[in-house]
Amino acid sequence: MNELLKGRIAVVTGAARGIGRAGAIALAQAGADVVGIDIAARVSDILDFAPATPEQLADTGKHVQACGRRWLSHIVDQRNIDALRAVAQSIEQQWGGIDILFANAGIQAFKPILAMEDADWHDQIDVNLSGTANVLRVFAPMLVKRGGGRIIVTSSTQGQHGTKSGASYSASKWGLLGLMKSAALELGEHHITVNALIPGLINTALTRHEDRYAQALQEGGKQPSGDVAKDEQAAIKAMEAKTPLGVPWIEPEDVAPAVVFLASDAARMITGTTLAVTGGDSA
Ligand code: NAI
Repeated sequence: MNELLKGRIAVVTGAARGIGRAGAIALAQAGADVVGIDIAARVSDILDFAPATPEQLADTGKHVQACGRRWLSHIVDQRNIDALRAVAQSIEQQWGGIDILFANAGIQAFKPILAMEDADWHDQIDVNLSGTANVLRVFAPMLVKRGGGRIIVTSSTQGQHGTKSGASYSASKWGLLGLMKSAALELGEHHITVNALIPGLINTALTRHEDRYAQALQEGGKQPSGDVAKDEQAAIKAMEAKTPLGVPWIEPEDVAPAVVFLASDAARMITGTTLAVTGGDSA
C-alpha cells in the first residue's frame, strides 16, 4: 500500500458498486479514509435499473477497512439535499472534515426524444446533474473550511458528443462539464481543484444491460422497447469498434488510478479539465 493520500478523508458517491466502489478502494489503498454514499435502492420507476444494495455498500467498506483505513457509510439519495446536509454534518462531527470529493453517482437510461416523457428527462437530469450539483454544494464548503482539496466528478464520453436514444444522459453529462469548469473557476482561490473523469465503456451494471434488465425485470421493473435496446447495443458496439487499444470492456479498476492521481498532491496544478480513461476512443 502506498501513502500518497495518507491522512486524507474522501467522500465517494455511488460507492456501492462499479466505478465508485473501485475508486473508494483505490483511495483507501493510497491511504485515505473513506465515506461511501449510495442510494442502494431503486432510483426511479421510469428508469429501469437494478439498484445497488446495502450489502454491496457494506462490502466496499470491508475492502476499505482491509486496507487499514477508516470507513463510514450513508444510504442517501443525492437528489435530496437536506439528507446530504445531514451526512455532511455527521462527517464533520465524527471525522472533522474532508479533503477529497469523488462525485461519481449516476444512472443511465435510453429513450428516444420522440418517445420521451417528463419523468424520462427529469429523473436522469435530477440524479446526474442536479444530484451532483447538490453533492458539490453540500461538500465544497467543507473543503473550503479545510483550506483546500480535490473534487472529481464523473462525466462521460457521452458528455462530449451525442448518443442516439441517449439525449437525457448526454445532456446531463455535458452539464456536468459546465458545472466542473465553473466550480474550478470559483473554488481555485480556496486551493480546491475540480476536474472531470471521462470514462469510456466500463464493465459495470450501468452498461451490462442484459444483466441489468434481467435483474430489474425480476424486481418488477419494465423492459425497454426492442428499438431502444437495439440503440443501446449499437452505441456499445460503436464504442468497442473505435477503441484503439482494442479492449471491449474497461474494468472499473482501470479507472480508479485516475481518481487517485487527480486526488493527489501530484495533480495540484490540474484544474478545470478532463481526464479520459477510454482505451483511446476519444483519440
Ligand atoms: P453503477 O450503476 O455500477 O454505479 C452507480 C452507483 O450510483 C450505483 O451504486 C447507484 O446505486 C448509485 N446511485 C444512483 N443514483 C443515485 C442517487 N440518486 N444517489 C446516490 N447514489 C446513486 O454504474 P457505474 O458505471 O459505476 O457509474 C458510475 C458513474 O460513471 C456514473 O455517473 C456513470 O454515468 C458514469 N459513467 C459510466 C460509464 C460506464 O461505461 N459504466 C461510462 C461513463 C460514465
